[in-house]
Amino acid sequence: MAQATAMRAARLYEKGGPGLRIEDVPLPEAAEGQTVVRVRAAALNHRDVFITRGLYPNIVLPAILGSDCCGEAGGREVVVDPTIGWGSDERVWSPEASILGMPADGTFAQNVAVPNENVHAKPEHLSVEEAAALPLGGVTAYRAAFVCGGLQAGQTVLITGVGGGVQTFALLYAKAIGARTVVTSSRDGKLERAKALGADVAINYATTPDWHKAVRAAVGAVDLAIDSAGGDSFAKALSVVKPGGRAVTYGGTTGDATIKMFPIFWHQLSIYGTSMGSPGDFAAMLDFVSKHRIKPVIDRVYELAEIESAMQRMDDALQFGKIVLRVPS
Ligand SMILES: NC(=O)c1ccc[n+]([C@@H]2O[C@H](COP(=O)([O-])OP(=O)(O)OC[C@H]3O[C@@H](n4cnc5c(N)ncnc54)[C@H](OP(=O)(O)O)[C@@H]3O)[C@@H](O)[C@H]2O)c1
Repeated sequence: MAQATAMRAARLYEKGGPGLRIEDVPLPEAAEGQTVVRVRAAALNHRDVFITRGLYPNIVLPAILGSDCCGEAGGREVVVDPTIGWGSDERVWSPEASILGMPADGTFAQNVAVPNENVHAKPEHLSVEEAAALPLGGVTAYRAAFVCGGLQAGQTVLITGVGGGVQTFALLYAKAIGARTVVTSSRDGKLERAKALGADVAINYATTPDWHKAVRAAVGAVDLAIDSAGGDSFAKALSVVKPGGRAVTYGGTTGDATIKMFPIFWHQLSIYGTSMGSPGDFAAMLDFVSKHRIKPVIDRVYELAEIESAMQRMDDALQFGKIVLRVPS
């Protein structure tokens, strides 16, 4: 039988609108030091929506998006670390580092070529869909909560916008080590789901504009705040951090924040910015997830051909957890 030379992929041609076409494209070839992974399932990140809508820097088109996957390579089930070329400094990625899925072709396809060192064994306790949901969100939350945030058992952590893919991991991780969790969300249904996962205090930021006062009333102050909404959300999150505590940001979904200076220096607060994770963070995250048998929260599974509906669901912030794409064999 003739070797296949093409594969199905969702390729983005235009930014600012839908712009995605499901089509046959040439199979990727492994360059030196690369492995081709046969993708079984992929997952969305907000980055994919930002790129599709033209709200991301340095967009190069056409491109196959997608940073997360679970698939097969060399006869084993694998997941892929989406950070390419982190570099040698654990504290910060190198200026040459990039994220899988633009500019390098990503996981919304039947095959993807990635550096050999980015290929890891799938955690055994996870299904293919669960493992596909893990990489980007899992490592970002791990670095935010533990490497930057230093979260420990018995401490209290505030997790804003808990419906988000990364933030659901932060909740699962915090509960796994025995931290107390305070979460916010725009919808009561998401708060109920967070409570079912163990959230101790749940507040609707859309219906309670002074939600930071509600946090104070409920728990006093928090040891750590983790935020990716930015703007007003980050400013309010910072205002409930206890003296000597920490705030970690990995995103600015709603824009820039205006923050009060006095409490930062007077209460000796630490503010950390973080993005993705080093190879060491990724390996530690996989160990942690396996040890605690953590299962990513899957919001919904779509077929690759339904990618526009999946993107729209994320754009509308309807999801709780990760949106997964099943990739046809
Ligand atoms: N720097 C990095 O390496 C890195 C890595 C991953 C993600 N990010 C960034 O982090 C953000 C989230 O990414 P994601 O993939 O997790 O996206 P996502 O699954 O779409 O989650 C976004 C969530 O943000 C929350 N949100 C929106 N407006 C909010 C507000 N005003 N206050 C509080 N929460 C608000 C919503 O939570 P509710 O639905 O609960 O209201 C929403 O579900 C994006 O900006 C993304 O680019 C950065």
